[in-house]
Amino acid sequence: MQNYQDLLSEILIDADKLQARVAELGQQISADYAGADLLLICILRGGVPFMVDLSRNITVPHMMDFMAVSSYGAGKRESSGTARVTLDLQMDIRGKDVLLVEDIIDSGHTFASVLNLLGTRQPRSLKVCALLDKPSRREAYIPIHYCGFEIANKFVFGYGLDLDEYYRNLRFVGVVDLDKYKPPA
Ligand code: IMP
Ligand code: MG
Repeated sequence: MQNYQDLLSEILIDADKLQARVAELGQQISADYAGADLLLICILRGGVPFMVDLSRNITVPHMMDFMAVSSYGAGKRESSGTARVTLDLQMDIRGKDVLLVEDIIDSGHTFASVLNLLGTRQPRSLKVCALLDKPSRREAYIPIHYCGFEIANKFVFGYGLDLDEYYRNLRFVGVVDLDKYKPPA
């Protein structure tokens, strides 16, 4: 796989800006969820770095759980329209104040199915926190209660977001130069 430097067209959000915004979101969430029974749900795998950093900035007691959904097939850049749960939660969310944490809301298809499913399990509240929002791509309505950054319609990677599963570890969000990118064989 190429080094990220070889396919980076620009750094869209640098590490300092990300951390500053995550700290703000953590403060806001801590205030809004005072006295609540907060459960952060991370959608694997893209939401992991964001949820970990967010959680460390939330000062109210809370739990974490994880679920995985398949949306884009391997090598695809488009949502299929329907999401399939490939790993379900371990916890019962009934009566909990659930905050779903996602890396990015693009078409919204993935998230719409997850929200529908979780809504049927009777949480006390169900809200959405997304690091990135690409509103120009939206096809399904998603209420985003906490949003890190609105971005233009560019394919981005880093800080949880992958290019064919690579580069999730990067501390910044970058734009890929698709002319330079060589997908894995
Ligand atoms: P949606 O169903 O179209 O909203 O797709 C959401 C999922 O697609 C996200 O959780 C990401 O995994 C992936 N995705 C969407 N846009 C990007 C991007 O620009 N870079 C990397 N992954 C993306
Ligand atoms: Mg994802």
